[in-house]
Amino acid sequence: MKRVLIIGAGGHAQVVADILLRMHEAGADLTPIGFLDDNPHLFGEWRLGLPILGPLAAIDAVDHDAVVIGIGDNRTRQAIYERLAACGERFVVARHPSAIVAHDAVIGAGTVIAARAIVNAGAHVGVNVILNSGCIVEHHNRIGAHAHIAPGATLGGAVTVGEGALVGIGATVLPQCAVGAWSVVGGGAVVTAAVDDDLVVSGIPARPHMKTPTLIPSQRRARVGV
Ligand SMILES: CC(C)(COP(=O)(O)OP(=O)(O)OC[C@H]1O[C@@H](n2cnc3c(N)ncnc32)[C@H](O)[C@@H]1OP(=O)(O)O)[C@@H](O)C(=O)NCCC(=O)NCCS
Repeated sequence: MKRVLIIGAGGHAQVVADILLRMHEAGADLTPIGFLDDNPHLFGEWRLGLPILGPLAAIDAVDHDAVVIGIGDNRTRQAIYERLAACGERFVVARHPSAIVAHDAVIGAGTVIAARAIVNAGAHVGVNVILNSGCIVEHHNRIGAHAHIAPGATLGGAVTVGEGALVGIGATVLPQCAVGAWSVVGGGAVVTAAVDDDLVVSGIPARPHMKTPTLIPSQRRARVGV
């Protein structure tokens, strides 16, 4: 039975813990043994019946067979993945029993597939990706390493999502569109054309996301009509 350490102990890590517990209940040959987190206030606490054992630096002191990273921020997750991979750590795929994954889909090491996610035929999902609750990754998608497809997001057929990109909650990417590396698609957006690398887009159709300039109070009053 593989003993799996979860890296991080925050909200997403607890979702990952629940997935591993449910995999164990469903007969998978693994069991979660606890969390590592660099927040000292958490040491000695428990989440979902599992202990927070100490900081990441203590990893060699904890007997384990594999790890999975439970950190939502893509850059941080990438950095930790690369550090642990360089140390020879093994990564498990955490796949909720209710997720539906096509027989020929390829799922990279350390990827988390949450409840009710769907991954359809011919999809390739890179390492250390999050396919969050109820997202749909349609046939022949290519999802780059360290990307995050947020809850309820829908990717049409043959979509490409670059390394480290975030497709936000409930967003839609129309078939064959590409989302560039490290880009962010805002929650609820509809992507109808290619999104460049390192871009933030939002809205329907998705356009580069503009921060509203800071308004002085009189402008703000004028804007809201008081
Ligand atoms: C698009 C996004 C990246 C913008 O973040 P931001 O630059 O910090 O934006 P702000 O929160 O400062 O908002 C700026 C303006 O954009 C609007 N806005 C924010 N997100 C928006 C979205 N997804 N769609 C449309 N408008 C949005 C805000 O209402 C605000 O408008 P205002 O200035 O008229 O009041 C972010 O809001 C978002 O959608 N992130 C995805 C989060 C997600 O799904 N995470 C997964 C977690 S599981």
